[in-house]
Amino acid sequence: MKLNILAPLKISLLASLVLGQANNVTYNVIAFPESPDMFVAVIVDNNTYRLAASTSGSLLYSGNAPAAQNEYHYVILDNANQVNVSEAFSRSPTQNETTINEFFNRSSVTHQLNYLPQVYEPVPAINRIKSDLHVLNQIPTIQIWGNQTAIDILHKNQVQDLDFELNVTYYGLNNVQEFQNVKVSLAGRSSRWIPKLSYGLKMKTKGDQNLYGYKKFKLRALGMDPSYVRECVSYSTLKAVGIPASGFSYVRLFINKQPAGLYGFIETFQDPWTANVFAGGDTSYKPGYLYQGQLAGENQTVSVFSDLSYYGDNTTLYSLGQYKIKTGTDKDETPDDFKELQDFTKFINSTSSDTTVEEWEKHLDTEIFTRAMAIEDLLGFSDAYMTLLNNFYVYNDPKSPGRYIYIPADLDTTIGIALYELDYLLTGNYSEHPGFNIRPLTSKLFSNQIMVNHYQQVILNLTQQLVNPDIMYPFIDSVVNMIYPDVEWDLTLPGMGTFHLPSMEDINPGGAENTTSNSIFGPGFKTNWTDIPQTFESSLNGPTNSTATESVKGFIAKKSANVLAFYKK
Ligand SMILES: *[C@@H]1O[C@H](CO)[C@@H](O)[C@H](O)[C@H]1NC(C)=O
Ligand SMILES: *[C@@H]1O[C@H](CO)[C@@H](O)[C@H](O)[C@H]1NC(C)=O
Ligand SMILES: *[C@@H]1O[C@H](CO)[C@@H](O)[C@H](O)[C@H]1NC(C)=O
Ligand SMILES: *[C@@H]1O[C@H](CO)[C@@H](O)[C@H](O)[C@H]1NC(C)=O
Ligand SMILES: *[C@@H]1O[C@H](CO)[C@@H](O)[C@H](O)[C@H]1NC(C)=O
Ligand SMILES: *[C@@H]1O[C@H](CO)[C@@H](O)[C@H](O)[C@H]1NC(C)=O
Ligand SMILES: *[C@@H]1O[C@H](CO)[C@@H](O)[C@H](O)[C@H]1NC(C)=O
Ligand SMILES: *[C@@H]1O[C@H](CO)[C@@H](O)[C@H](O)[C@H]1NC(C)=O
Ligand SMILES: *[C@@H]1O[C@H](CO)[C@@H](O)[C@H](O)[C@H]1NC(C)=O
Ligand SMILES: *[C@@H]1O[C@H](CO)[C@@H](O)[C@H](O)[C@H]1NC(C)=O
Ligand SMILES: *[C@@H]1O[C@H](CO)[C@@H](O)[C@H](O)[C@H]1NC(C)=O
Ligand SMILES: *[C@@H]1O[C@H](CO)[C@@H](O)[C@H](O)[C@H]1NC(C)=O
Repeated sequence: MKLNILAPLKISLLASLVLGQANNVTYNVIAFPESPDMFVAVIVDNNTYRLAASTSGSLLYSGNAPAAQNEYHYVILDNANQVNVSEAFSRSPTQNETTINEFFNRSSVTHQLNYLPQVYEPVPAINRIKSDLHVLNQIPTIQIWGNQTAIDILHKNQVQDLDFELNVTYYGLNNVQEFQNVKVSLAGRSSRWIPKLSYGLKMKTKGDQNLYGYKKFKLRALGMDPSYVRECVSYSTLKAVGIPASGFSYVRLFINKQPAGLYGFIETFQDPWTANVFAGGDTSYKPGYLYQGQLAGENQTVSVFSDLSYYGDNTTLYSLGQYKIKTGTDKDETPDDFKELQDFTKFINSTSSDTTVEEWEKHLDTEIFTRAMAIEDLLGFSDAYMTLLNNFYVYNDPKSPGRYIYIPADLDTTIGIALYELDYLLTGNYSEHPGFNIRPLTSKLFSNQIMVNHYQQVILNLTQQLVNPDIMYPFIDSVVNMIYPDVEWDLTLPGMGTFHLPSMEDINPGGAENTTSNSIFGPGFKTNWTDIPQTFESSLNGPTNSTATESVKGFIAKKSANVLAFYKK
């Protein structure tokens, strides 16, 4: 040992011994040793200190060790105390008493993102609580844990609607929060066909349990999107145009210490969501009806759809499963609960191109709807209101009864993942977007000259100021930079379910629609779903070598160029 070089270090160590080792640091790292007889440790300036988990199920390993002079890093030790896996980089010394909750093999926990500009301020209807639920430049960790038998049953019955009460732990940068008896289910419809499963988490509506003010969540597997960024970009865009939608952030998910991968974390629109978004979290807020459009009901025998068509006076025709009710009734839904929705569709049905803006405004927040339709078009939402009359909500806000708020959701088949022929989604002419001319609400509202002029202006502005390579690429690149190590990790994971190839019944429940003969899906709906498999790189940057799929960046570049060309004419 070169004592002279180490002298300052020795003095400092001696000083800290004398002073009762005041500069010990509590090291905290989230890690998941492969086997239970392995250990997690921190190596501080070449000395190894074992860390311990607070319980056998915890992912967080902590322990005291001296503050580093040069560097520290985490390792996994085998039962012979040999290093099994080591972080390949050095961490900088900290003078703080405790580290944040670091993650094994990730060198940074907060990232520099080039956020999208807030092009439009949030609409007046929004009064959202301030919350740290989504801090996009960090990736927290969530663990679902408990009864493995229940988890196995959930995973083995992947297309059934089961739920089990399990425990959930949230590991933020500076906090760990544990929740018991959280209802865990599998989420999504088409997302259940692949081994990487999506989950729903529900804390009890009554009681104090909440995560940053929210109680109901979805963990989105992002498994249909090889780029992992489409939902992030879509939700971030909705936020940038100031309309109500879920927020989005990334999390790492574990289930009973098994890694599930990189997930998208979003909100489920159930209580207290409407109070959080429209009433600043007011606990005495009584939500109105929140209706979800989901195309058609399971086993539906009558041809009724969730396109906001008016079906006459019979509320039963609204309750056949094409709409679901998310808030506004505590009881099981009855046909009466659809009366308000029926009134809304009756109004839409009664309008003409002469219906005044003032009259429309009594029944619809037209600004929200206009911005939402602009984004549906610009980002090529192919499983949404205009296209598949699907994945949208309309909310009857009690603050202005009868005036509906439109809310888009489920944004996985967007930005080049297409259920329609690409030409229809890439067109620069808004009126060629599939469904624009046939859905009751778009065809009626935009038959009003003032409204369609405004719609065109919003599309043009958003193309110039947002859905534009110069603005979106830097955002996307910064997100990719953040998630890349987790994407690589995710790609090594086998998934907890199995492939469940869909039957025609899954794709088209109840045979409600005959895709070869008809029309309700509008022009351009695809019947051939076979396509070239994409990698992360090709799905993000192209080339896709396909006429059926466009890369994220390719879609944005082509769409914005087509829109600008259309307006030049
Ligand atoms: C740790 O060990 C390496 C090589 O074994 C040596 O170069 C380095 O100086 C040591 N660092 C400290 C702080 O002792
Ligand atoms: C500092 O950390 C070392 C190594 O874990 C431990 O032996 C010692 O007790 C700690 N000192 C204090 C004051 O916590
Ligand atoms: C130390 O703590 C401060 C305040 O919490 C924080 O801003 C800083 O990033 C921490 N430094 C390190 C190296 O963790
Ligand atoms: C949740 O945690 C509590 C306390 O540790 C435990 O008693 C309970 O069994 C756990 N629930 C499940 C479903 O494992
Ligand atoms: C675990 O879940 C299964 C399936 O729901 C149930 O039969 C069993 O009783 C549960 N075990 C415990 C210890 O709660
Ligand atoms: C639809 O039909 C299937 C198969 O017959 C049945 O299991 C399911 O419960 C039905 N769903 C509804 C909502 O009636
Ligand atoms: C309006 O509703 C009536 C009665 O259901 C229906 O026949 C008609 O097609 C609807 N018109 C439009 C434009 O939706
Ligand atoms: C309402 O529609 C349902 C479903 O088609 C039908 O069974 C019922 O007879 C209708 N009620 C009336 C009053 O027409
Ligand atoms: C479009 O952008 C222009 C210039 O920034 C602005 O004056 C106008 O109000 C915007 N209109 C809409 C509908 O966004
Ligand atoms: C769909 O419609 C076509 C043409 O009318 C018909 O030949 C075919 O049998 C229908 N398919 C189903 C599944 O109903
Ligand atoms: C379906 O599309 C794929 C890729 O776009 C193509 O290779 C295949 O020939 C098509 N199949 C049919 C039946 O058109
Ligand atoms: C597209 O074609 C190029 C050139 O043959 C090839 O390198 C690339 O891997 C292909 N991409 C995909 C997604 O198949």
